[in-house]
Amino acid sequence: MMAPVVTVTRRLPQAVEARLSAEFDARLSADDTPFAADRLIAAMRDSDAVLGTVTDRFDATVLAAGGRRRAGIVANFAVGVNNIDLDTARAEGVVVTNTPGVLTDATADVALTLILNVTRRVPESEALLRQGRWQGFSPTLLLGSALQGKVLGIIGMGRIGKAVARRAALGFGMKVIYYNRSPVADAGVEAAARGSIDAVMAEADVISLHLPGGAGNARLISAQRIGLMKPTAYLINTARGDVVDEPALIEALRTRRIAGAGLDVFAAEPQVPHALLDLPNVALLPHIGSATVETRTAMGMLAVDNIAAHFGAQDYPSRVV
Ligand code: DGY
Repeated sequence: MMAPVVTVTRRLPQAVEARLSAEFDARLSADDTPFAADRLIAAMRDSDAVLGTVTDRFDATVLAAGGRRRAGIVANFAVGVNNIDLDTARAEGVVVTNTPGVLTDATADVALTLILNVTRRVPESEALLRQGRWQGFSPTLLLGSALQGKVLGIIGMGRIGKAVARRAALGFGMKVIYYNRSPVADAGVEAAARGSIDAVMAEADVISLHLPGGAGNARLISAQRIGLMKPTAYLINTARGDVVDEPALIEALRTRRIAGAGLDVFAAEPQVPHALLDLPNVALLPHIGSATVETRTAMGMLAVDNIAAHFGAQDYPSRVV
């Protein structure tokens, strides 16, 4: 029997590419450039499976593209699936899988990295030193804000939200409050639920977002909600850029309506608004929440497990649609 054709849109860790080549007729990415719509359509038409990621827009046109083969599965190399039109996938009978669980700790680590960076003014401090402006120790130089005893507000208490709560409470002595759409049976650490996003926005000293992106949550953190934040509070986003009203956030940062922000994700990646690049009170990262060798390898292996399950008629480890 011929091995199924699997098109892979981006370079993946070496062990994952080796496994793909051993188990399938794998069409690996040669240059790691994101697939534009025409390449995605061709991939759907000429493959049995497509292993894609957040830089690939599987919209209705791509998913409905019929052809010689017509891929029966899109295995997304990400936990988030906001790059895929799930309704069309469902209607077209295309299976969609994702990579939950394996990236929880890595992403929570980056949320804490951003919290520490922005509250301790690391970007400003490093810039001062690198630009040769440091004139030696001073008792009042670059004073930040302590975490001990402060309130961390988690919006979206799923796996990653809980992992952030655990680190913040046990490692840094923060008090945790959270909002989650549905009741949370076990937060894993002492944490108090609040009845609304607004309540968390108004009470927390640091707010960390852990919500899925996509139309349902677009600009959920609106100008009005940003307006509820304390002037001393920080906003951390390792989820998706589109859940925040980015222009409103920039305005709040620019006018010091809030103290700062730590961002790993942006509304129109890879574009980062210029205004953000010029602000001193932000820590900015290029969507590296899950970027460790171990995690990216585990994500790749889970995506391949899903593809193998598809062709082996087994249960999918993590099916979305
Ligand atoms: C995800 O998994 O959704 C991340 O954004 C990429 O790791």
